[in-house]
Amino acid sequence: MLSPACSFTRSAVRLLPRRTRAGGCAWCRHISVKPGDLKPKTVPPRYLGQPSPFTHPHLVKHGEVTPGLTQTEFELRRQKLALLIEAHTDKLGPPASSGNHVAVVLSHPIRYMTNDIPYPFHQNQDFLYLTGFLEPDSALVLYGRTRPDQAILFVPRRDPGRELWDGPRAGRDGAAALTGIERVHSTEELGLVLKSLKGTQLWYDSSQPAHSRLHQTHILPTLEAGPAPRSLRPLIHSLRAIKSPAEVSLMREAGRITAQAFRRTMALSQGDVDESVLFAKFDFENRIHGANFLAYPPVVAGGNRANTLHYINNNQIVKDGELVLLDGGCEYFGYVSDITRTWPVNGQFSAAQAELYEAVLEVQRSCLSLCSPGVSLDHIYSSMLALLGRQLRRLGILRADTSDSDALKAARRFCPHHVGHYLGMDVHDTPDLSRSQPLQPGMVITIEPGLYICEDNDQAPEHFRGLGVRIEDDVVIREKGAPLILSSGAPKTVADVEKACGMG
Ligand code: GLY
Ligand code: MN
Ligand code: MN
Repeated sequence: MLSPACSFTRSAVRLLPRRTRAGGCAWCRHISVKPGDLKPKTVPPRYLGQPSPFTHPHLVKHGEVTPGLTQTEFELRRQKLALLIEAHTDKLGPPASSGNHVAVVLSHPIRYMTNDIPYPFHQNQDFLYLTGFLEPDSALVLYGRTRPDQAILFVPRRDPGRELWDGPRAGRDGAAALTGIERVHSTEELGLVLKSLKGTQLWYDSSQPAHSRLHQTHILPTLEAGPAPRSLRPLIHSLRAIKSPAEVSLMREAGRITAQAFRRTMALSQGDVDESVLFAKFDFENRIHGANFLAYPPVVAGGNRANTLHYINNNQIVKDGELVLLDGGCEYFGYVSDITRTWPVNGQFSAAQAELYEAVLEVQRSCLSLCSPGVSLDHIYSSMLALLGRQLRRLGILRADTSDSDALKAARRFCPHHVGHYLGMDVHDTPDLSRSQPLQPGMVITIEPGLYICEDNDQAPEHFRGLGVRIEDDVVIREKGAPLILSSGAPKTVADVEKACGMG
């Protein structure tokens, strides 16, 4: 049975080719999908520009485009986007021209660290979300009369000279077989094909093009010839915000890997210890257990450096008796974790450290209990400030007679960041989505309150000065019951943290 929440999916499933429907809906946990139902084409028996079922059977199963995500799931994402565009058009009024829609999403280009030396390639997540295709210099075009439900993929032409240096490319046949998108062209043809789709309403984000060369060469002429484009990113982000069961599984694995990396990094701690050693250990433990790489430069901040929110130098000595704050996460086949723990490097909280830590932990637990459908991140943030204000009074950092409104202002000073953000393919995921919007089942967020007391804060009791504590978990909103905590394997209570530190 499809749940009521799945009615949108139900219409999307109806749009799929008949042979695809037989296996069910990859989008919804209520019916199962048979991988490989979508397209009978087989992946060529040669290396492509990314893992395939043929070259990497230990990673990608038959019918999957990327590990854990089937062709059917990608097709459903495109169909859902087409339906959203149709629904949005009804709201905004008909397009300026004849009613055709064309949506364009570009890949990222390769970026270079220095002459000829590329950074590891990172795909534009909106393009990746809709195609699963991991090569640069590519594009997706969706087109159709009432809704853009036909896909064309544009990929780099095969080029033995370039492939000698950069590695194999999928080419048109490889891309078609891997993604299940039947119509695939070479990227040079993008402008011509766009020109041929005349009389169209373009859906495209021209303000920050993902690929400036493709934008200038192929998209600008189309933009100049037609009516103003309508923005696509908010629609894609509204889809990306709700994770499918397959996406939650990938995020669960990212959370599991990073949580165990925390346990092993805590076990290595001792006073004194170099932040760079903890950084290297954390990086190693993530990668050796299956992460592709760290999702962002981690904060490994000993002592007072924890009060610099974006401290990433990670090159000082954490002294015996100091806390270290580590904010780190990994990327696991396109999905990330983002976890923070704070612990004493010598394995034992001092009385003041434990007092401050327990105060943040209590607030964090209360915020977690608010994570349910209908509540917004902004609402949880307001609650966090009120709770932190109360803790500041209880700890004697504020006078006992401080009014609620002054305590709230102080809470903003002692915790200058929000309670959390959306999480998914990116660390600060789907930034086009307002934090005032009610949470829905399938959304993933972080909950990360902190208290930061700088060493030069002469208003705070001396024993708290120079301490900075943040506790951050990754949370899946569920229809009913408690949220799913993806980072629950990372020690969090004082007793568990001290135990983990003693495991070395
Ligand atoms: N690691 C970045 C953040 O927690 O928002
Ligand atoms: Mn975060
Ligand atoms: Mn973080």
